[in-house]
Amino acid sequence: MKIPFLDLVAQGQPLKDDILAMVGDAIDGAGFIGGPNVTGFEADFAAFCETRHCVGVASGTDALRFALQAAGVKAGDEVITVAHTFIATTEAISQVGAKPVFVDIRPDTWNIDFDQIEARITPQTSAIVPVHLYGQPADMDPILEIAEKHSLVVIEDACQAHGARYKGRRAGSIGDIGCFSFYPGKNLGAYGEAGAATTNNSDLAQYMAKIRDHGQKKKYYHDIEGYNGRLDAIQAGVLGIKLKHLQDWNMARRSHGARYRDMLSCLPEVTLPTEAPEMESVYHLFVILVDQRDALQSFLSDKGVATGLHYPQPLHLQEAYRDLGYQQGDFPVTESVAQRLLSLPMYPELMPEQIQYVADCIKQFYNR
Ligand SMILES: Cc1ncc(COP(=O)(O)O)c(C=O)c1O
Repeated sequence: MKIPFLDLVAQGQPLKDDILAMVGDAIDGAGFIGGPNVTGFEADFAAFCETRHCVGVASGTDALRFALQAAGVKAGDEVITVAHTFIATTEAISQVGAKPVFVDIRPDTWNIDFDQIEARITPQTSAIVPVHLYGQPADMDPILEIAEKHSLVVIEDACQAHGARYKGRRAGSIGDIGCFSFYPGKNLGAYGEAGAATTNNSDLAQYMAKIRDHGQKKKYYHDIEGYNGRLDAIQAGVLGIKLKHLQDWNMARRSHGARYRDMLSCLPEVTLPTEAPEMESVYHLFVILVDQRDALQSFLSDKGVATGLHYPQPLHLQEAYRDLGYQQGDFPVTESVAQRLLSLPMYPELMPEQIQYVADCIKQFYNR
């Protein structure tokens, strides 16, 4: 049996007519930048995230960069985050002139270890960026408490967590600003690049709306220098159509996660993702930890099962961050997770028999 890691063709087929009609309308009306698709999607996504505002931007990386800038993070500042994330989290920090400062992750949730944050706060620290990796929210309450005590802003990297909940609150509605990516493979994916920032703070929303559009509030009148970082009308149209299905897709992912869990929990060789009772993960990825990771990955590949590694090399050990001065051994949990992680196929259209096949192959690998 061949099982892809992700099946965007299966997701796109039932939506194709609606999307082609939307593109036709955009061509007929020559509306490609801004307009009702963008404002409509922003309103709908803000409602979905249970926030007052959503600012559509060109990518998740732009959302993070604009959020940091809007929150006042500037050259010379330090921003605390994790090394167990995609590099966009720290690219955004560096690109506003600040320095990423890493802390380790927790051995249970594989998200930021809030117990390690305070020790890394200096007079230069201005923000904390927790990442809701794989669709599971970071433990936000202790982070918000630390942030309040030290007057720091909290920018949630919710790029993998559209619709996740933490103690009933939606990812992206908990910190000062939430940042989302709509890269095609995300739980809510565009048909190109797109992103958004959510917030309850009108000043922050207005500032982000300005910097995504060359710093202009009115055409050709620039309060500040900004960027070309707008969400375009066709991507917003695609996202508006797909958003109606997001809740169902997330429920399907959660039920696939439960099925994987049922089938793999008998294997002592496999560490399954933990979902704390107050969290509702949306399983952007279903990641397991295993000791013979590379051997299992190639065994699965021979059996037709595509898998992924998110992410095999922690950021503190990347060549790009050599100047930050970190070494192997600095973040033991991050390093051990990076060596053992394996992402199994996960997408709403996955069939129970496909999950069964993946689980059977893993059991076969361990001779069980
Ligand atoms: C955790 C995380 N942060 C940031 C990003 C950046 O998003 P984008 O690729 O839309 O710029 C991504 C997505 O790739 C991500 O997974």
